[in-house]
Amino acid sequence: MGASLKIAIAGLGTVGGGVIKALADQENGLAARAGRPLSIVAVSARDAVKARGFKVENFVADPLALAKCDADVVVELIGGEDGIAKKLVEAALANGKHVVTANKALLAKHGAALAVAAEKNKLQLKFEAAVAGGIPIVNTLRESLVAYDVQAVKGILNGTCNYILTEMEATGASFAAVLKDAQKLGYAEADPTLDVGGGDTAHKLALLSSLAFGVTPDLSAMTVEGIEHITPADIHFASEFGFRIKLLGVARRTASGIEQRVHPAMVRARSPLANVDGAANGVLVDAGQAGPFFFSGRGAGEAPTASAVVADLVEIARGTYTPVFGRAAAILQPFKPASADAAPTPWYLRFEVLDVPGVLAEIAGHLSQCGVSIESMIQRGRHETAPVAIVMITHDTRQSAVERALKAIARSDKIRARPCMIPMEAA
Ligand SMILES: NC(=O)c1ccc[n+]([C@@H]2O[C@H](COP(=O)([O-])OP(=O)(O)OC[C@H]3O[C@@H](n4cnc5c(N)ncnc54)[C@H](OP(=O)(O)O)[C@@H]3O)[C@@H](O)[C@H]2O)c1
Repeated sequence: MGASLKIAIAGLGTVGGGVIKALADQENGLAARAGRPLSIVAVSARDAVKARGFKVENFVADPLALAKCDADVVVELIGGEDGIAKKLVEAALANGKHVVTANKALLAKHGAALAVAAEKNKLQLKFEAAVAGGIPIVNTLRESLVAYDVQAVKGILNGTCNYILTEMEATGASFAAVLKDAQKLGYAEADPTLDVGGGDTAHKLALLSSLAFGVTPDLSAMTVEGIEHITPADIHFASEFGFRIKLLGVARRTASGIEQRVHPAMVRARSPLANVDGAANGVLVDAGQAGPFFFSGRGAGEAPTASAVVADLVEIARGTYTPVFGRAAAILQPFKPASADAAPTPWYLRFEVLDVPGVLAEIAGHLSQCGVSIESMIQRGRHETAPVAIVMITHDTRQSAVERALKAIARSDKIRARPCMIPMEAA
């Protein structure tokens, strides 16, 4: 057996704690797989004395000091797109240490530059845990699905959003009520903005795009919409049409560039993505001639995320070298966005209207003027004073046409809330 791989870990929270426990519990099995022992030589966090439920040894007060300690690998599990996490990763790479991180925010923003820094020194920068937790999708796109051009990657990449949508469907409760419960149960952060607003999914999608299409991770060319405006009525109507609502990250190769978007989508109820429930994640990869592949499982939490970090450590211990995003950083292409109108699609539209004569004709008139044609429609309830819902499914339509029509419709004095539009995904 070879010499130990010496590991320094910054961050002893959910993921860091999981990694420390897994390395201790699976010591012999991991050494057998790696061909050498994996040993922790230093750890760091904010609080040196906090009770953590595992033994803390070789604590170093300053996390940046890990970049200069006697370790082969620095594992960054602090988080944040800038600040201490970025400084530590940069310093570790500058000091000749491999890096493993679960930090999607950092890599989505600075991944291209960090990949250059890693590859310049022939160092590994690995991030399996950063996308979809325990699902080995990073390794799959980087090393397995490489024979044919990947055409598209679609994913449910945020467990908090998926949990909220699943609970809204099961209970009929509002977004706000389910979010509150999710916070009590620990499924949602005290500040849920990054999750429910789609930002976390966007970070992960930028990394998947880079791995799938050989482009630099780029958040600037992504449309991002969260789930805050989804109502129990939308979920109910979706099921009447045979769909479920999921927050998707979609990255697709098109003739004009890469389409990259995060938004709630109507997904056909029988499709694999529609059946990813609760806090789970799911990823569908269209791998060209090799066909579609579907992955699902636990996208967050101590053991799934630690599983991904430890897999990266074993790869580093074996000494195999893989470029950070699957191609040398120097040949990653600048991100070229596709037009938002690249792929016409059917849309779900919901209008909250006053139940007065002429309202339907007015909506239909604006839709028709903008070239939006309707495939089916539901109008429910009659009420003299309270608004009622009119729901429509369009034929394949460009996004810009739907937006133009809805802008005009929203100006009507018969419309009582901002109209809702949700694209319908083919798979
Ligand atoms: N949790 C998940 O399921 C999951 C899944 C995938 C990816 N990730 C990513 O993994 C990373 C860590 O997440 P986590 O959930 O483990 O976070 P966490 O439970 O909040 O733990 C963060 C750790 O970082 C330490 N820390 C924070 N600021 C620090 C500072 N300025 N200096 C030194 N140490 C500092 C904290 O120290 P103290 O303990 O002393 O306060 C804590 O040990 C993040 O990038 C996150 O996005 C998490």
